[in-house]
Amino acid sequence: MINYKDLGLVNTREMFAKAIKGGYAIPAFNFNNMEQLQAIVKAAVETKSPVILQVSKGARQYANQTLLRYMAEGAVEYAKELGCKHPEIVLHLDHGDTFETCKSCIDMGFSSVMIDGSHLPYEENVALTKKVVDYAHQFDVTVEGELGVLAGVEDEVSAEHHTYTDPEEVIDFATRTGCDSLAISIGTSHGAYKFKPEQCHVDPKTGRLVPPPLAFEVLDAVMEKLPGFPIVLHGSSSVPQEEVETINKFGGKLEAAIGIPEEELRKAAKSAVCKINIDSDSRLAMTAAIRKVFAEKPAEFDPRKYLGPARDNMEKMYMHKIINVLGSDGKLAE
Ligand code: G3H
Ligand code: 13P
Ligand code: ZN
Repeated sequence: MINYKDLGLVNTREMFAKAIKGGYAIPAFNFNNMEQLQAIVKAAVETKSPVILQVSKGARQYANQTLLRYMAEGAVEYAKELGCKHPEIVLHLDHGDTFETCKSCIDMGFSSVMIDGSHLPYEENVALTKKVVDYAHQFDVTVEGELGVLAGVEDEVSAEHHTYTDPEEVIDFATRTGCDSLAISIGTSHGAYKFKPEQCHVDPKTGRLVPPPLAFEVLDAVMEKLPGFPIVLHGSSSVPQEEVETINKFGGKLEAAIGIPEEELRKAAKSAVCKINIDSDSRLAMTAAIRKVFAEKPAEFDPRKYLGPARDNMEKMYMHKIINVLGSDGKLAE
């Protein structure tokens, strides 16, 4: 048993309480490799932001859970080396699907876990989430639950259509499970294809597609039922069109990739939404930079020569999110 506190990591409790009070959201960025992690840590240090490092089931399979845990421990030391006196870094399991997976992460030093029972019948979701909470809280590890179903793919669970969170269920769910935060469904979804073009209208100024708004009325109703309770938004990549255009210009083929407008996320961040999950935008930033190098310098074969620019592009994107979208910059204790 390794406690995350010994690794210099923190849980989400205080971080979320401050974020709700301060009207900003904590960035939760997924990582699968060293370059993503370096870019996240550099961006968080440069902007003086707390940050959540997320590990999905896919990441655990790709990069190995043990290695990722040591990388997160290394991230704390790296942040200090970069000049951050008191880094606030959470190591979080994203979309945990079983009690055993959550327990295994808690036992090896994760400071926060998500148990995603959103696809289960309500009572089963309650029972599973409570079981994880009861275990996690013994070690002061915080737990995120989920109510409502997001469209798109969440690891192996895929849903064609979303089901908004039912505000009538949230009090019962939060009380009976004891979870520390709640992911809700208000129209976001995973991946780079969040809306069909026919759902969107064209912005006359930019000529770009604008998706329908998120269901803020559902968020408002949830906040009314659970005042001050930490709310999480998954599927919150904006799918920057500049990156999509770069990818397509240099041989990619992303058609009608559409994300959540940043103004909507900015609005959500000012409310009880205190954790915003972003993964796809990092994939796009990385792929765009790599494709550019491959197209412009076809003789290059040193991975550092294309992973380096990819890392720089991701760092720029992370900093932009922190400063201009989530507002978590400057929120670290000096
Ligand atoms: O929830 C979805 C995240 O983007 C993780 O994706 O399962 O492909 O690592 P992944
Ligand atoms: P995106 O696919 O919109 O980046 O969502 C990521 C996510 O929700 C991870 O849990
Ligand atoms: Zn998610």
